[in-house]
Amino acid sequence: MPDNKKIRELKEKREKLLLGGGEQAIEKQKAMGKRTARERILGLLDKDSFNEYDLFVEHDAHDFDMDKKSLPTDGVIIGTGTIYGAPVAIFAQDFTVAGGSLGLMHSRKITKIMDHALKMRMPLIGINDSGGARIQEGVNSLAGYGEIFFRNTISSGVIPQISVILGPCAGGAVYSPALTDFVFVVDNISKMFITGPEVIKTVLGEEISMEDLGGARVHSEITGNAHFFAHSEEECFEQIKKLVTFIPWHNGKKARPFEPAEPLKEYNINKIMPEDPTHPYDIKDVIRAIADNSDFFEIMELYAKNIVIGFGRMGGKTTGFVANQPLEMAGVLDVDSSDKAARFIRYCDAFNIPIITLVDLPGYLPGVDQEHAGVIRHGAKVLYAYSEATVPKLTVILRKAYGGGYIAMSSRHLRADFVFAWPTAEIAVMGPEGAANIIFRKEIMSAPDPEQMRKQKVEEYKMKFANPYVAASRGYVDAVIEPSETRRILLHSIEISDAKDVPMPAKKHGLPPF
Ligand code: HXC
Repeated sequence: MPDNKKIRELKEKREKLLLGGGEQAIEKQKAMGKRTARERILGLLDKDSFNEYDLFVEHDAHDFDMDKKSLPTDGVIIGTGTIYGAPVAIFAQDFTVAGGSLGLMHSRKITKIMDHALKMRMPLIGINDSGGARIQEGVNSLAGYGEIFFRNTISSGVIPQISVILGPCAGGAVYSPALTDFVFVVDNISKMFITGPEVIKTVLGEEISMEDLGGARVHSEITGNAHFFAHSEEECFEQIKKLVTFIPWHNGKKARPFEPAEPLKEYNINKIMPEDPTHPYDIKDVIRAIADNSDFFEIMELYAKNIVIGFGRMGGKTTGFVANQPLEMAGVLDVDSSDKAARFIRYCDAFNIPIITLVDLPGYLPGVDQEHAGVIRHGAKVLYAYSEATVPKLTVILRKAYGGGYIAMSSRHLRADFVFAWPTAEIAVMGPEGAANIIFRKEIMSAPDPEQMRKQKVEEYKMKFANPYVAASRGYVDAVIEPSETRRILLHSIEISDAKDVPMPAKKHGLPPF
């Protein structure tokens, strides 16, 4: 029979610790529009599912009068729980305790939960809200970060790793999120940078606000460091919960299947592409016309919009979509869109998620800026990622598939399992105008009416090459299909490739162009 006094004592101890840095610090946290670390964990996990560990851990620092200071929980909460029944390991830095700064014991709590996540094969969620390395703990803090980065890397591709930036994430601390799979940010709350505004002012003499330097919008629109942008913590948590429904718990599993559902009638696949091949359309409407329930969960929506990536379901199974966006720069591949697509393809491959690629692009973006920014190296990432991926790869060529773009976008030659083309597909080395100008230049120049001759030659080229039938005659395209047949044939392809198994040559690892 437990001693009531001892239980009361435990309860009192717990209650005190649950207050973190105390009421005043909590008030300050709230005044910044932020929830406390504990509220965040409880808001994200299924009701009553959270089990906390290491509540009684304290710091072990002695310099700078630290031995006179108590830092409850050492500024980080760790534990396990569930989201829609799926197990997750979680940590949340508590800014009310020494600014969530990372000392030795704080880092040991984080690495303990990371070790559990890897050992037990469950997703890891890290909520970052911290002033960075705890200055008073010197090299112990740096050691702590190193231990975290190492585990992030070793766990990569084995368990999903999710980072949520809900406050400052400064200095080397940013490298843990950067090593994880998905980074969530919230407008006006998230701040990520290597060197803060004060350092920049001292070293470079430039004034910049924290928001303009590394706020949520900066990382969602410019740097590509963030994958999901939200206006509030509530919205952010909804996004995280939704993501968890699409991904498997670890790389030895598939994502949980849902009930299959037909796309909504309002997305009529026959009516999305305009008659005029020079007119753009929204490729997301095509995805919605194909995916179960027309539900498309877009990733990196605000970055490199010329390519669209995200998850949907086909017949209840999670599927990754990669699609050129004709609405943005005609859907070209460039440095940023290549980077964005390649990483997502590798994610899908690591976690057993089939990939559907929708193709409509004039090729890689030409120009000095792109060449000097390394479009060769970055563009090669797409080739590498598709070639290496062994999950089912299904491709639909909707309209333009020119040059390197045709090859890169999951072509048969990079081992797509099935390649389909709409009758509107134009598969050629380059666009008709450019091609006719080059190969018929002499005839055009010497014609009595060069403009008329040019038009005639463009038409000739279109008739001969700008269609899907030449590629189909070589077997590079498996079937030319009507748009309305797309979902049915993709569902069938996913079904029959469920047990796909492709042996790869033994190697330690490849050398992707990153
Ligand atoms: C120890 C810290 C701390 C830190 C904040 N605090 N950062 N304590 N080490 N790194 C403490 C403060 O002393 C304060 O304690 C409490 O946390 C709240 O901080 P405030 O400054 O009052 O909060 P705010 O005004 O909101 O400013 C937040 C902040 C600022 C912008 C994050 O605290 C700040 O600039 N901190 C330092 C950031 C930094 O340079 N970190 C080191 C980066 S280098 P009291 O007791 O007064 O409440 C790094 C290297 C890692 O991280 C390398 C890994 C490879």
